Amino acid sequence: MDTVLITGTTSGIGKAFVEKFASMGNNIILVSRNRDKLQQQQIDLQSRYQISVEYISCDLAEVDAVDMIMEKIQSWGLSIDVLVNNAGFNEAGCFTNTNLSKELDMIKVHIKVLTALTKLFLPGMIERGYGRILNIGSTGSYMPCPNDVVYAATKAYVLSFSNGLYQELKGSGVTVTCLCPGATQTLFAEKANISNTLLFKLFVMQPEVVAAIGYNNLQKGKRVVTAGLYNKLLVLSAKLLPVSIINPIAQWMVKV
Ligand SMILES: NC(=O)c1ccc[n+]([C@@H]2O[C@H](COP(=O)([O-])OP(=O)(O)OC[C@H]3O[C@@H](n4cnc5c(N)ncnc54)[C@H](OP(=O)(O)O)[C@@H]3O)[C@@H](O)[C@H]2O)c1
Repeated sequence: MDTVLITGTTSGIGKAFVEKFASMGNNIILVSRNRDKLQQQQIDLQSRYQISVEYISCDLAEVDAVDMIMEKIQSWGLSIDVLVNNAGFNEAGCFTNTNLSKELDMIKVHIKVLTALTKLFLPGMIERGYGRILNIGSTGSYMPCPNDVVYAATKAYVLSFSNGLYQELKGSGVTVTCLCPGATQTLFAEKANISNTLLFKLFVMQPEVVAAIGYNNLQKGKRVVTAGLYNKLLVLSAKLLPVSIINPIAQWMVKV
């Protein structure tokens, strides 16, 4: 039985991950902003599973977020076996019109916090000779995305960081997996006002299916996994075609 820390647990893919890890008998630490939802999630999980559930309510875009997480984990005397860096959001639109403050928060949550949490828990995992880290990228990790430039750039970081670290950790007992979902039926698109784009009309996966793919590949210690056949084809075309062809296609798919 592992102790699993998951960020972004109150909805979508993160919530589906919580369910998956809990149903397999793991102890869970939930990290999100909404305290009421976290409290309810803790009560609900403990009533259904024989596991321990703690939560940390914090805004990961705040400067002291990672320190707060570290203090809580230390005060509970816990060590983290599995880290799932899932929390995230989007701010889509033409770059000249998007909200800079939201974009800078996105860079903090997708890049800074993901990196800092990995740095925080990795030494303990290496010392114990066991650990799993799951970073949530995107099909956008593979292609620059006009109308969503900052989001795709942050997710490119997630993929590159995970890929490099995977190699560094070979033989340590610790693995890093990057899960790249495509359009998934969560609150993500609604919050970013992109529910009506072609991307979210063409092929949308359910978060439980995405989380199951992520969970299975994490257990196998896989390096990178793209969720779903359609998304695999999308990623393959981004690898094969020049950016001058991929760019207009991506732009067309996220046009509001
Ligand atoms: N849905 C898609 O189409 C899609 C596609 C590719 C990749 N992804 C990635 O999948 C991950 C999960 O997204 P989702 O689709 O499940 O979206 P979601 O339903 O909106 O869930 C996002 C979760 O992140 C938490 N969160 C957001 N900002 C936070 C912050 N500043 N501090 C702490 N927690 C925060 C939210 O909780 P609170 O509001 O309670 O804080 C929520 O639990 C993200 O990394 C996203 O980029 C999603």
